[in-house]
Amino acid sequence: MGIVDRYDRPLRSLRISVTDRCNLRCGYCMPEGSYRWLPRPDLLTFEEIGALAEVFAGLGVTKIRLTGGEPLLRVGLVSLVAIIARTAGITDLALTTNGALLSSQAAALCAAGLGRIAVSLDTLDAAKFRELTRTGDLHETVAGIDAACSAGLPLKINTVVIRGFNDGELGDLVERGREWGAEVRFIEFMDVGGATQWSMSDVLAREEILAKVEACLGKARPLPGRGAAPAERFELPDGTRFGVIASTTAPFCGTCDRARVTADGHWFHCLYASQGIDLRAALRDGRSADELAAMIRSGWRQRTDRGAEERLRVAARGPLFPADALRDNPHLEMHTKGG
Ligand code: GTP
Ligand code: 5AD
Ligand code: SF4
Repeated sequence: MGIVDRYDRPLRSLRISVTDRCNLRCGYCMPEGSYRWLPRPDLLTFEEIGALAEVFAGLGVTKIRLTGGEPLLRVGLVSLVAIIARTAGITDLALTTNGALLSSQAAALCAAGLGRIAVSLDTLDAAKFRELTRTGDLHETVAGIDAACSAGLPLKINTVVIRGFNDGELGDLVERGREWGAEVRFIEFMDVGGATQWSMSDVLAREEILAKVEACLGKARPLPGRGAAPAERFELPDGTRFGVIASTTAPFCGTCDRARVTADGHWFHCLYASQGIDLRAALRDGRSADELAAMIRSGWRQRTDRGAEERLRVAARGPLFPADALRDNPHLEMHTKGG
């Protein structure tokens, strides 16, 4: 059943990207003018994704998160949600989205078996939202969040904190999250994928994030029981909870139980990995479920990845990959690996 890697870390959580495309162009993720997309015939079909989900569940995966690019761009996503929701062993099915297309889909996703949702929202200022996303409209994302709340989907808000851009809004974001019944998680700006303009001076470290929130809303008490989660959670004096994901300055590789499958079926052991294992080829070669399971078992047993921790040892830290390397190999992109 369960398998562990070389550092004794189990494989419990799978992030499945369903498309590398996105309808927004957030500066920290997709800042370039044009992209080389994965060829459409290479994208896994829902049947193929369902078959992989079953194999991973058989190896101990209990949590699946659908990601992108922007997953709601994938036509018919609701039927994929239904397939995964009825996969034996999957007890937690979540989706990460920018929310722009959510208002018309939230109720159907919930009815199909989606368990919870995380929406990216980096600013509450409409002009800044447009500046960051280039094509986005704050009101559409807010309408998406409202629809998720009305549908009864448990909700989290993901905010990438960038110095000088949204670090003055952290308290407001927590308060807005409280109105939605959503836990806001502040994510340190990471040097991965499309963050080609990344610089350490743009990163607000977890201590600074906490200080900003506390200056607005009072002392934050750390909550116990983090387990393998990326987020450290805190509670404010009025009971409101929020999280900090300190991937850049305080990585959590030691407990990492997450793997990622790209929309074209490449299996990555780490967000920082430069190469994945081609499960699509295995699927399309007609390998049986047992053969796929053997391949995955062997891959995970050899895993030694601690990508974010290794970045801490880089002296003059800049973007992980330069823009031309990303152009040559779309698998290096955060929006291909699924964030
Ligand atoms: P929960 O299941 O609710 O705990 O979700 P999550 O926090 O695992 O998922 P989500 O997609 O909301 O993650 C938010 C952000 O945390 C991602 O976009 C990444 O920036 C970061 N993150 C998530 N998983 C990893 C990881 O394995 N490694 C690193 N370095 N960062 C991660
Ligand atoms: N730094 C931190 N998080 C990022 N994401 C994408 N790019 C970055 C980055 N450079 C994450 C954010 C966003 C999700 C889609 O991917 O959480 O909300
Ligand atoms: Fe896991 Fe890699 Fe992220 Fe570390 S950097 S937490 S090993 S995905």
